[in-house]
Amino acid sequence: MEEVWKLISKTRKTRMMQPTAEEIRLAANALRADELVAMPTETVYGLAGNAFSTEALTRIFSSKERPTFDPLIIHVPEAWNSLEELESNGLIDLETMNPLARERASKLIAAFWPGPLTLVLPKTSKVPDLATSGLQTVAIRMPAHPVAQKLLSEAGIPLAAPSANRFGRISPTSAQDVAAELGGRISWILDGGRCEIGLESTVLAVSNEGELQLLRPGRITAADIQKVTQAVTIPAEQITLAGPTGTAAASPGLLKSHYAPKKPLYILNSSVSSPGFKLDRKDFGLAPDTRIGILVMSGDSAQIKARLQPLLGEALEVRSLSRDGSFEKIARNLFAELRALDDSAAQVLFAEPCASEEGLGFAIADRLKRASSR
Ligand code: TXA
Ligand code: MG
Repeated sequence: MEEVWKLISKTRKTRMMQPTAEEIRLAANALRADELVAMPTETVYGLAGNAFSTEALTRIFSSKERPTFDPLIIHVPEAWNSLEELESNGLIDLETMNPLARERASKLIAAFWPGPLTLVLPKTSKVPDLATSGLQTVAIRMPAHPVAQKLLSEAGIPLAAPSANRFGRISPTSAQDVAAELGGRISWILDGGRCEIGLESTVLAVSNEGELQLLRPGRITAADIQKVTQAVTIPAEQITLAGPTGTAAASPGLLKSHYAPKKPLYILNSSVSSPGFKLDRKDFGLAPDTRIGILVMSGDSAQIKARLQPLLGEALEVRSLSRDGSFEKIARNLFAELRALDDSAAQVLFAEPCASEEGLGFAIADRLKRASSR
């Protein structure tokens, strides 16, 4: 497939669109005609297509080279802000949810939508099996980005939108990142600037009995969810893989390797500024002139580079994720800086571990772990 895309992308033009009323109208028309448009959201850019159209869904899977066992998230307009709205618009089957499930899902919608929380709920037969990889549930999210919302309300249809990267690669947090991933494969990219959050939404399954399972950590944490529902979430690690063997896992986004740079990435044992910090080229079989790239959580890149050069030599790139170590900034910059290092002259990449796995730190650590897993 990659070979075919290479050939196609020699002639196909990808157009950057500005989020003016006129361009959004054009993009919405394209979506209604089952074409694809990459759109900004507050988390990462998504590759959007009509969620009710098998043709559009097929295009999404093929442009991303995404295996069909990995289901998609369906994005909805602001007006669909209740379980009843989701039901009347043909997405969910409310009948199968017991009162507790309805109560909890409703509270979560009221508290976090629009925003970076995806809810996995029982689906109707109107949602194509391709969107859900044959699962009886559908993942739904109401994005908060104003451009995504304008596009959704103008299109008037739910939009399936996985992150707009090739399968397994680093998620895009700018329109330029999307062009680097899918340029020549898709026709339109709507430029909405850099994504505010930078990590994909939290994915939470609400079972028909009202149990909550955290399938993917994100900006909205288990503690945030507990505060609103008074319910403890079951963490992803404890979820047994459901679905027919060899097909859909409980949440295929839990794949061990994901968000991966092209170059090998290792997580360091400690921060580069901790007293015991040690990184020996020999331990990794690296020659003195092999260029090393290091992603640090905080501080000034140039200063850290100057401090590390006596230890690691001249062949070194350092990129910092924040000035002050704030998890919000680290999350916002993580994918962009990882991508920059991947595109730099560095041949082998290292990343500092996240200082804490509490709150948003848990989501950051999760992405780093998967990015470094081969
Ligand atoms: O922030 C986001 O969620 C971004 C933006 C574009 O909205 N989208 C995104 O989509 O991250 P994607 O396709 O890269 O990730 C979708 C995740 C996958 O991990 C998938 O396994 C999970 O959602 N998922 C989708 N449908 C599911 C279902 N029915 N049951 C369990 N997990 C599901
Ligand atoms: Mg993705």
